[in-house]
Amino acid sequence: MPAPIELLLPRVQAAIVAVLGDDFRDVDPVVRPSSFADVQVNAAMALAKQASTSPRDLAGRVVDALRAGGIEEVASSVEVSGPGFINVTYATEFLEEQVGALAADPRLGIPEAHSQTVVIDYSAPNVAKEMHVGHLRTTVVGDSLARTLERLGHRVIRQNHVGDWGTPMGMLLQRLAEVGPDSAAAAVVETDPNAFYQAGRVSFDEDPAWADAARAQVVALQAGEPQTLALWNRLYDHTKAYLRRTYDLLGVTLTEADLAGESRYNEELPGICSALEDAGVAVVSDGALCVFVDGFTGREGKPVPLIVRKSDGGYGYATTDLATIRHRVCDLRADRVLYVVGVTQALHFQLVFETARAMGWLPGEVDVEHVAIGTVLGSDKKMLKTRDGQPMLLGSLLIEALDKATAVIDDARPELPAEVRAVIARQIGIGSVKYADLSVAHDSDYVFDLDRMVSLTGNTGPYLQYAATRVQSILRDISWDGDHRHTPNVVLGTDAERRLAIHLLAFGGVVAAVGDTLEPHRLCGYLFELAQAFSVFYETCPILKAERDEIRESRLALAALTLRVIRQGLDLLGIETPEQM
Ligand code: ARG
Repeated sequence: MPAPIELLLPRVQAAIVAVLGDDFRDVDPVVRPSSFADVQVNAAMALAKQASTSPRDLAGRVVDALRAGGIEEVASSVEVSGPGFINVTYATEFLEEQVGALAADPRLGIPEAHSQTVVIDYSAPNVAKEMHVGHLRTTVVGDSLARTLERLGHRVIRQNHVGDWGTPMGMLLQRLAEVGPDSAAAAVVETDPNAFYQAGRVSFDEDPAWADAARAQVVALQAGEPQTLALWNRLYDHTKAYLRRTYDLLGVTLTEADLAGESRYNEELPGICSALEDAGVAVVSDGALCVFVDGFTGREGKPVPLIVRKSDGGYGYATTDLATIRHRVCDLRADRVLYVVGVTQALHFQLVFETARAMGWLPGEVDVEHVAIGTVLGSDKKMLKTRDGQPMLLGSLLIEALDKATAVIDDARPELPAEVRAVIARQIGIGSVKYADLSVAHDSDYVFDLDRMVSLTGNTGPYLQYAATRVQSILRDISWDGDHRHTPNVVLGTDAERRLAIHLLAFGGVVAAVGDTLEPHRLCGYLFELAQAFSVFYETCPILKAERDEIRESRLALAALTLRVIRQGLDLLGIETPEQM
């Protein structure tokens, strides 16, 4: 079900062709909402030069062509404005029909795309280490993209590329071997994985012999040595349990079936290296096998190597990532591969993608993207740390968020039973953290501020959750059945109703745009504006006390539709809508 802008677009294109001829068939006139009209067309500005005329003159001729083409079914007025814009006001009847059809559309206007296979690599924490706030953000953004692309009709394959194989594994294994897998010191891995990791890290940094032993563990692991593998499996089981708990609490759609960590590619790594060497793409430099990609130089103009085999024979992060591309393109038959990973790894991915292209593992028709995730900062604008200078861990962060959300709901609804408040507190607490990650551009850094994130005002998750519960309570009050199978009769008598209607009609286009651009913050911004448009409507248009039954029904339909759109939008962000707040 196309929104008004999509219906307007072909008419504008046809008018441009009528004025300028067939050569202008494929121009994309910029059509966007405006504060001066329902929408504004900005085509004449760019085209006038090519057509050797003035923008105002061209806009006037396009307007004439639009009128001649019968635009009045869609627009009650089309006018040239300013230096050459075209202001369009939709015909009210047209909007009313469109909103009625939207209410009867189970997809809420979300288009069904030509289905692609999309592989999404996200979350990817490291074995036996607690997730930190950076993994949280890739998890939250990746999950929202997975939900959105699935809703658009694509086949989504989730890949959780957990770090279960490299140098840090060596430290963990050496630590486990040292203390004995059944010792009390080893039990810490179950209760406080970071303490266990830190103990290994200290020995690794302080004792060169220990560090060598840790590296030897990696080599033994990669060679498939049974004893080492047994130790490794014990570490891994713990991680699986930890991830299951964490994803459940967060409402993240990743399951154990999506685990495809570094270890998965172990057997392929020697073959990757020999293929690179045979093709002359990789060369031995200082004992290590390296790829030098043209145009990538570091300090003093020295080329930066992508190390695919270290001088001790071990394989690294880069080798595994070459294997991920080959697997995803050749075995999983991806049309599109997304790596939702921290922005600090941008160079790594550029080098890996270029190398894969040089090897023919990444054909031109496959679209690969590093969806770069910005850093979460503390109030000092440095990477978010705890008071004692440690990176902020997920567990403590979520506890703090849940505490704040509990305080908010205890304050707002003290009369509700404790167990009901506990559910709402979880929904608000988790929702607020996720929304904060999603509402800024994914590649921007942002300052983590829990008080702002759980606030009921501003562009926050709880504000949207609250807007939804407000509509729910109106509908509950009159036991509205919310049947959306029939087409309601919508009457748009006031400006607030018109604005709300135009907003609702834009939903499907926004979801499609998120699928194209991989930018969930567009959906957040849209929902925030929708909630504001609803607020204005709610304050100025009495619903239950409307002057006529017909208007009351129409306003109820608008309210119910707003609720469905907010709920569906929050769901695509991975955020729950509470029953009440
Ligand atoms: N485990 C890595 C980290 O914690 C992220 C892995 C991302 N995915 C990938 N294919 N490299 O930084």
